Amino acid sequence: MTRNIPFGRPWITDDERKAVLEVLAGDVLTHGPQGHEFEKEFAAFVGPQANCVSLSSGMASLHLSYYYLGIGPGDEVIVPAQTHIATVHAAEFVGARPVFADCDARTGNITAAAVEKLITPRTKAIGLVHFLGIPCDMDPIMEIARAKNLKVVEDCAIAIGATYRGKHVGLFGDAGCFSFYPVKHITTGDGGMYLSRHKEATEKVGKIRAFGVDRSFAQRAIPGMYDVPDLGLNYRMSDINASIGRQQIKKLPEILSRRAANFAALKAALSGLADVTIIDSVDPACRNSHYCLSAVLGGKLGPKRNDVVAALKAAGLGTSVYYPQPTPRMTYYRNKYGYDESKYPNAARISDCSIALPVGPHLNVQDMEYIGQLFSKTVKEIA
Ligand SMILES: Cc1ncc(COP(=O)(O)O)c(C=O)c1O
Repeated sequence: MTRNIPFGRPWITDDERKAVLEVLAGDVLTHGPQGHEFEKEFAAFVGPQANCVSLSSGMASLHLSYYYLGIGPGDEVIVPAQTHIATVHAAEFVGARPVFADCDARTGNITAAAVEKLITPRTKAIGLVHFLGIPCDMDPIMEIARAKNLKVVEDCAIAIGATYRGKHVGLFGDAGCFSFYPVKHITTGDGGMYLSRHKEATEKVGKIRAFGVDRSFAQRAIPGMYDVPDLGLNYRMSDINASIGRQQIKKLPEILSRRAANFAALKAALSGLADVTIIDSVDPACRNSHYCLSAVLGGKLGPKRNDVVAALKAAGLGTSVYYPQPTPRMTYYRNKYGYDESKYPNAARISDCSIALPVGPHLNVQDMEYIGQLFSKTVKEIA
């Protein structure tokens, strides 16, 4: 019997539905208390050093990070060749030049060694991603950043709950950027969070996200009166979205433990499968937040990745690819900066030969056994 298993499904219950209806029953749909409360609850989850600003997306958080740090034309930002395009677009959008680093084949993360080789006198920042929830090796990266006076922007869009040597990702660099897109660990519909250890950064970013206005709705002594000391945008998260996030964050410990159990079960089910390697953390002092299980096909199977995906789809299994192309190979960047395929072999192999399998909380350990058997049978037939 064919089962239909989606790659991701937001875990929405009556808690979220009730919270949204409560906001809708009131007069304040944005600018209200829900955003602030969500910021406090998110900061409490990440750790005592965190200050947070709720935003309309993860991309908005990345964009504001570079803007706040004053990075712009003439500057270079070292970014991963293996990531979502938002990691790179954010640096490009402020006018900086992205310089692409290949990733480690086992973790998909950039390394200090790869970063070091790309540093020039124009380098101003490192924009890293904690790939699939696997923390980057932060100690050597931060050492280089300190030695070369570089800013660090951590893309934590799919890494909420991930820790490196006991500290939550996003707390190492100058900014941590989170996403609440529907298939992420938690969702607000669409949404994001900017996080910084520095209160002055969150105060300023909090103003830039709302047109650069000097005082919030509640702080206006005379309604409608304000001044604008800064350039800004409208990147606010509405109270409707924030009310969903506040319910979701309560479920986060359960979501993370279900993902961890599912990942372990699926990894075990696939162990020993010829020509299949699993992207995972290699450092026992890191806690992976298990966004998905990405299986990289090798040998004769590698070029047959799309056939495997098609067969899994026909059998009802939803999969994805993280990420579909090395970022410098995407048309915009290839046209602008050229593409030298010899520079990004690991990123290209992950893009061209991997399949992301679901481990989300909509599934359980028995489902993982089923997915493991289906995947194993499919690759053996296609090999
Ligand atoms: C690594 C990474 N960074 C940034 C983003 C962008 O986040 P958002 O969709 O919230 O703008 C995504 C995915 O959506 C992502 O996977």
